[in-house]
Amino acid sequence: MPNHIGARKLAMAFTVRLLLFSSLFLLPVSVFAQTNGSIAVGDFLTATAANSSPWLSPSGDFAFGFSPLGSNDLFLLSIWYAKIPNRTVVWYPLRDNEAAVAPKGSTLNLTANSGLVLKSPQGDDLWKSGTSGVANGVLNDTGNFVLQDRNSESLWETFNNPTDTLLPGQTIGRSRQLSSRQSETNYSKGRFQLLLQEDGNLVISTINLPTNFANSPYYATDTTSGTVAGSEGKELVFNASGYLYVLRENGGKYNLAVGEAVSARDNYIRATLNFDGIFAQYYHPKNFTGNVSWTLRWSDPDDICQSITEDSGVGVCGYNSICTLKGDKRPTCGCPTGFSLLDPNDPYRGCKPDFIQGCEEDELSRTKDLYDVEVLTNTDWPISDFVQLKPFTAEKCNESCFQDCLCAVAIFRSETCWKKKLPLSNGRVDTSLNSLAFIKVRKDISTLTGAPQPPCPDDKKKKSQTTVIRAESVLLGTSIFVNFILGAALCLGFVLIFRKKHVRSAEIVLDSNLRSFSYEELQEATNGFTEELGRGAFGVVYKGVLQIGSVVQVAVKKLNYVMQEIEKEFKTELNVIGQTHHKNLVRLIGYCDEGQQRLLVYELLSNGTLASFLFTDIKPSWRQRIEIAYGVARGLLYLHEECSTQIIHCDIKPQNILLDDYYTARISDFGLAKLLMMNQSRTHTAIRGTKGYVAPEWFRNMPITTKVDVYSFGVVLLEIICCRRSVDVENNCEEKAILTDWVYDCYLQGELDAVVDYEVQALGDKTTLEKFVMVAIWCIQEDPSLRPNMKKVIQMLEGVVEVKVPPCPSPFARTCIDESFVSQV
Ligand SMILES: *[C@@H]1O[C@H](CO)[C@@H](O)[C@H](O)[C@H]1NC(C)=O
Ligand SMILES: *[C@@H]1O[C@H](CO)[C@@H](O)[C@H](O)[C@H]1NC(C)=O
Ligand SMILES: *[C@@H]1O[C@H](CO)[C@@H](O)[C@H](O)[C@H]1NC(C)=O
Ligand SMILES: *[C@@H]1O[C@H](CO)[C@@H](O)[C@H](O)[C@H]1NC(C)=O
Ligand SMILES: *[C@@H]1O[C@H](CO)[C@@H](O)[C@H](O)[C@H]1NC(C)=O
Ligand SMILES: *[C@@H]1O[C@H](CO)[C@@H](O)[C@H](O)[C@H]1NC(C)=O
Ligand SMILES: *[C@@H]1O[C@H](CO)[C@@H](O)[C@H](O)[C@H]1NC(C)=O
Ligand SMILES: *[C@@H]1O[C@H](CO)[C@@H](O)[C@H](O)[C@H]1NC(C)=O
Ligand SMILES: *[C@@H]1O[C@H](CO)[C@@H](O)[C@H](O)[C@H]1NC(C)=O
Repeated sequence: MPNHIGARKLAMAFTVRLLLFSSLFLLPVSVFAQTNGSIAVGDFLTATAANSSPWLSPSGDFAFGFSPLGSNDLFLLSIWYAKIPNRTVVWYPLRDNEAAVAPKGSTLNLTANSGLVLKSPQGDDLWKSGTSGVANGVLNDTGNFVLQDRNSESLWETFNNPTDTLLPGQTIGRSRQLSSRQSETNYSKGRFQLLLQEDGNLVISTINLPTNFANSPYYATDTTSGTVAGSEGKELVFNASGYLYVLRENGGKYNLAVGEAVSARDNYIRATLNFDGIFAQYYHPKNFTGNVSWTLRWSDPDDICQSITEDSGVGVCGYNSICTLKGDKRPTCGCPTGFSLLDPNDPYRGCKPDFIQGCEEDELSRTKDLYDVEVLTNTDWPISDFVQLKPFTAEKCNESCFQDCLCAVAIFRSETCWKKKLPLSNGRVDTSLNSLAFIKVRKDISTLTGAPQPPCPDDKKKKSQTTVIRAESVLLGTSIFVNFILGAALCLGFVLIFRKKHVRSAEIVLDSNLRSFSYEELQEATNGFTEELGRGAFGVVYKGVLQIGSVVQVAVKKLNYVMQEIEKEFKTELNVIGQTHHKNLVRLIGYCDEGQQRLLVYELLSNGTLASFLFTDIKPSWRQRIEIAYGVARGLLYLHEECSTQIIHCDIKPQNILLDDYYTARISDFGLAKLLMMNQSRTHTAIRGTKGYVAPEWFRNMPITTKVDVYSFGVVLLEIICCRRSVDVENNCEEKAILTDWVYDCYLQGELDAVVDYEVQALGDKTTLEKFVMVAIWCIQEDPSLRPNMKKVIQMLEGVVEVKVPPCPSPFARTCIDESFVSQV
């Protein structure tokens, strides 16, 4: 099934990239001021949108200053070719592997005691060259920026601190390196490094970020001492005439590029370690008119798709991908059928399966015919095999993988069958292989349910059915046939409850702390059930006043007596709530159990629900929201781990969280909570909860654990951060309608400002903001095992435990929406 959303997102991402790209490059060529290249101590540059005039070299060939990054008012301190309209950056500083990105208004000062100092508008240090005793700086016509002392001796040079590019006249010695960028437009440290090793060997390797651990090289000059002493490399030289070679200890040269160099007098020449791991030399005429771009003179390795294997680390394209070589020897990355890009904005990050695969999932589905098989020729993932079968036939190879729940792909070649499991790595196309790849692709889940569509559970507000369905399917990360499954699971669930309940009801003993009221008493207290406070799935809540010691305002929940189970439900709830005591939970005062009537009496909280608090025109304060988030988390932790009987709430949402006089969050409505014995951590029950907050496992026939509450908490946390509803198609454009998706996208793009709608208080507390967003993303992981438990959540929120970078919340199915189905609705 085509992934429409994916395609649209991808197209959008491309447009955005293109815009960024053009805005970066279509800058007017700077007006050249007459200069001798010398910069005095005390001189400074400011990062401003337009007409920021950089420091120029005497010939005007090179500029040193701020390059705009995209359209976010961010700048990169850099050196570039001043006369080439398409800005080509040849140097930029890194700080802790990150590009030292400077917000608008940042300043670069040349100081005597610290060299170059880059500060944010708030005065924070962004980067420093270091070094003292500086008399002046010089931007040399070679593109080298040099800090000099009083005697014009060099103290520090950009040539000695290269990033991803070498210029003629530049050399790098042993243990020095070049580092690639993340991508064409992201200048943070990327996955590739070129290093002149201590033994004289010049190597290119992948590194495993965020550490600098280097895998085995996929390119090497082998310029070690070997058999001939003195033949080890001393330095990598890019000489002023444009020749690039490893200079050996004995004076010999190992040329990287063969043949004549292009004229360095008439051309700009550079050698760059590209973000995709290709080390290449380019040239560009100095005297040109119109459209002229960089010409490739030489590059290595010849086929990076083939050269990165096994211990050289995962391929250029990341896991589960397929690498193919373009004409210019640069790699292109794709995903096999049934997989899609992990990050739609970045094809080099790898692919994720659009489905869950594994023995547990296969077993749960209990249907044999789960998979289709896609066949690809000459495509191989040379590692990740777990078994090799020989002699074998192609059919048997396919069959064997098909029957094996561990097997994701089988490769067949010359009577041999390799069965492989996820993640697949180093995938590439190689026409010389003569192989077949059998890829198991999970069938659309809809084709597995032959059941007629049962009536949908409550859908009170369905203004626009099309968009609601679309929104929910996206949210739940399942197919549009959610409703089928929902129904089916409901039925299944109820059967389970029936069985369990019948066994259990006899054991329920009421806690004597609770008061028992007569129906009449409560009728009087609520003035005949007149003032309605709200409605939940199991009944209506009324306001009332009771004389118990003193006059107490109460909320009386009148349960609908519709189903047989309610009786047990009622006793369950009483028994559970009667034993809970926590400041972040609403207290139950008493109950009424008279004939057909079932009522619960709770303390009344003065400040209403979290929903009415959050979703108003005026945002509540950031501090208050933070406190509420902590409160909800603590209440949930208590329910999950601290009370005598573990309670899964199953319906955490802002409507079920109340605020007391002090705006302390108090979780209410345990009406849906399922009792679990402490030693019984996993169970199946009916689908509970409210759409938009419901964890995906409800729809997947997976075990229901406390992690469903963690999921809902994640959604609520995002709502608290953003002060908006989790699904809001009315007030938002398509990409913002689903809060979880939108926030994750913003997070990926580093646009947390947008998430809080540029709210000043929140932006002033960016650490907390970022931390909370990251925790929320951990909580909404589709895979329950990735979600933290509430204890961990609290530790992360409180900063006791470091929050790691969260993965994509829905790697399995960031959903296929069948447009034709939607239009039929
Ligand atoms: C460069 O020009 C500045 C003034 O613009 C002058 O102070 C400085 O001495 C000059 N440097 C050289 C090396 O000519
Ligand atoms: C940089 O120079 C500007 C202008 O002279 C000055 O206002 C600012 O304080 C300087 N910053 C530093 C860190 O020296
Ligand atoms: C550039 O710097 C190098 C080394 O400091 C020096 O030898 C060379 O003359 C300078 N070139 C120019 C054009 O200033
Ligand atoms: C660049 O990539 C790094 C690492 O993936 C990321 O942390 C950073 O936010 C990105 N920067 C931009 C400007 O996208
Ligand atoms: C650069 O190297 C080439 C080849 O080794 C040599 O012919 C040329 O003279 C060198 N140029 C300079 C400026 O050292
Ligand atoms: C640059 O090109 C122009 C026109 O093509 C020509 O007149 C000029 O002599 C060239 N200059 C150099 C330095 O080659
Ligand atoms: C310049 O480039 C643009 C877009 O890349 C292209 O449309 C145009 O034809 C080019 N002009 C010349 C003279 O090559
Ligand atoms: C400038 O860069 C853009 C974007 O990569 C490209 O489309 C265009 O062809 C380039 N123009 C020249 C003259 O290189
Ligand atoms: C692979 O095996 C499956 C299961 O037997 C079968 O449905 C499918 O048609 C086979 N595919 C090929 C290409 O043999």
